[in-house]
Amino acid sequence: MPETTGFATRQVRTGYQPGTPQNTAIPPIYQSVAYDFGSFEQARDIFSLRRKGNLYSRTGNPTQAVFEQRLADLDGGVAALATGSGQSAVAVALLTLAKSGQHIVAARQLYGGTVDLLTDTFADFGIEVTLVDQDDLDAWRAAARPETRAFFAETIGNPVASVLDVRAVADIAHQAGVPLIVDNTIATPYLLRPKDFGADITVYSATKFIGGHGSSLGGVIVDLGTFDFGAEPQRWTQFTEPYPRIGDLVLWEEFGRERSAYLVYAKTKIVHDLGPALSPFNSFQLLQGLETLDLRLERQVGSALAIAHFLDGHPAVAKVNYPGLPDNRWHDAAQRYLPRGAGSVFSFDLAVDDSKVAKFIDSLQLFAIVANIGDARSLVVHPATTTHSHLGDTQLRDAGFGYRTVRLSIGLENLEDLVDDLRASLDAITEE
Ligand SMILES: Cc1ncc(COP(=O)(O)O)c(C=O)c1O
Repeated sequence: MPETTGFATRQVRTGYQPGTPQNTAIPPIYQSVAYDFGSFEQARDIFSLRRKGNLYSRTGNPTQAVFEQRLADLDGGVAALATGSGQSAVAVALLTLAKSGQHIVAARQLYGGTVDLLTDTFADFGIEVTLVDQDDLDAWRAAARPETRAFFAETIGNPVASVLDVRAVADIAHQAGVPLIVDNTIATPYLLRPKDFGADITVYSATKFIGGHGSSLGGVIVDLGTFDFGAEPQRWTQFTEPYPRIGDLVLWEEFGRERSAYLVYAKTKIVHDLGPALSPFNSFQLLQGLETLDLRLERQVGSALAIAHFLDGHPAVAKVNYPGLPDNRWHDAAQRYLPRGAGSVFSFDLAVDDSKVAKFIDSLQLFAIVANIGDARSLVVHPATTTHSHLGDTQLRDAGFGYRTVRLSIGLENLEDLVDDLRASLDAITEE
């Protein structure tokens, strides 16, 4: 596709040329576990990576391949690898770089499932993780060590919608000799292209805005092709030394940055061994969703900003955590990194007694009580008793929220209906 082609064109076209014997106009669901190699020679060459080709659906299927190419293109990357969930995408992205005895520095403002992965399961694996306040650049600097293999953070955090200074953290990661991986789930490539600010690898829970329908789990890792693993070969031996699984090939020599040695290793070792495959059907569903990403986000961020203003002016609301509002502490960062809008997942604190929080949420008619984000439908959740219920009071306070905090994910409904719903519930708790 020409360099100048726009986002909307790419999101419906990249990765698929109708050319199969059946001539289908949209990418079909290739529901097959395995592939007929046709000859001894083809089978041998595909297994040894000498020839490109479908091998076995645990590590990829043709519908998934279209999805991967499209995401890589939208993010400006060299290649992508899709997995069965966002959770497995985060795990695979990091396990490809760090093993037992090595170390990761991560923001402490992360999705709870990622915190569990990093602090509990990775500890079981012998991978140490230091969590830092993502806005404290000295803390990032101080946490790096010779065994560090990656920096990790979310571009927009949840539930307080913190905005990462991607450029500053990327610079510190590079000074420490490691790549910056960002989870860009809430921003998506439409609101933010992390490559433009120095990030090296992106990960997504495609379950959220990329799909947009709330019907299918999926995850994606995109190698942005910026990190030079060959610059310090002794640090990245998985890419720079002979790889016994594939005829002692040196992945960095064979694939380098341009053909993503990083993702070849991720696929042939981590995904192959752990098996977090994306199904052909879910690949298809996620592709269908992706085709309307920009249109959905434009409506969602517009409605989110209007709702944030409405809540900000309501006497039953103490504080609105939305970086699109001028007095928000990440407003400047949002203007720099998110000129198209500051996302549509944010939270606010009620200015009422704790005992009225449940009534507020139960009174909502349109906002569904669902522990998900990025759906076409508007969703509400009470983080302190659900998604973040394992955090104590101090941890909640450190993370910038508490019992009266309510999280919203704004969907595609009419803005007026959403505002009416929130107004009626706020009135219900103030009228007593
Ligand atoms: C920012 C972020 N990253 C990763 C995940 C995990 O994604 P999944 O639920 O698709 O496994 C989530 C899920 O809520 C998330 O919000």
